[in-house]
Amino acid sequence: MKSIVILISGRGSNMQALLKAKLPCRIAAVISNKTDAEGLEFARKHGIQTAVVSHRDYSDRASFDAALAQTIDGFQPDYVILAGFMRILTEGFVKRYYGKLVNIHPSLLPAYGGLDTHARALHDGVKIHGCTVHFVTPDLDHGPIIIQAAVPVLSHDTEKTLAARVLNEEHRIYPQAIRWLCENQIELDANGRVVLHRHKQSAHSLISPGLE
Ligand code: GRF
Repeated sequence: MKSIVILISGRGSNMQALLKAKLPCRIAAVISNKTDAEGLEFARKHGIQTAVVSHRDYSDRASFDAALAQTIDGFQPDYVILAGFMRILTEGFVKRYYGKLVNIHPSLLPAYGGLDTHARALHDGVKIHGCTVHFVTPDLDHGPIIIQAAVPVLSHDTEKTLAARVLNEEHRIYPQAIRWLCENQIELDANGRVVLHRHKQSAHSLISPGLE
């Protein structure tokens, strides 16, 4: 059975969705860069080992990433799952875990990488928004896409209502993506694109029920 570690920085609702999904893998640990991350308590209550590597204890990104990698490697995971982990990782760290490091981002990448995705989508008047699970590469928010979900942007949406609709989809697609990984359904082809074995196609998307 594969094992994963999940990295969080805050409330950890995606981590909770992963824990509740009863995935076919061992969740070796939940690691945070913040001692007061709310998600840590949830993980502990569910019998998952937790660890904190505080970025405040390190003078630069490289030394923090080295300490983080050491902690991660102590759990010997097959995959490292970023679930609201709000630190920019160094190229060295990302390369070390290439093909094993997965992130969820609250937009339909490659649109709206970075922060404030919902506000920017509303500002631009886009009609469809969503979320993406992808492998992490040194290029921020640009790695090979595993799965995406789209939601309609409604005329009365605020940042809050749109974020909530997208978050529902995040909680649906992240467990699905990690399930595929743990079942060996996913491969990166020579072009760096994701191939999903079960469906024999080069990418997979889920459209939210409202758009079907
Ligand atoms: C999510 O929207 C995720 O896509 C982004 O950060 C947020 C984390 O939320 N990377 P949570 O901590 O999982 O509740």
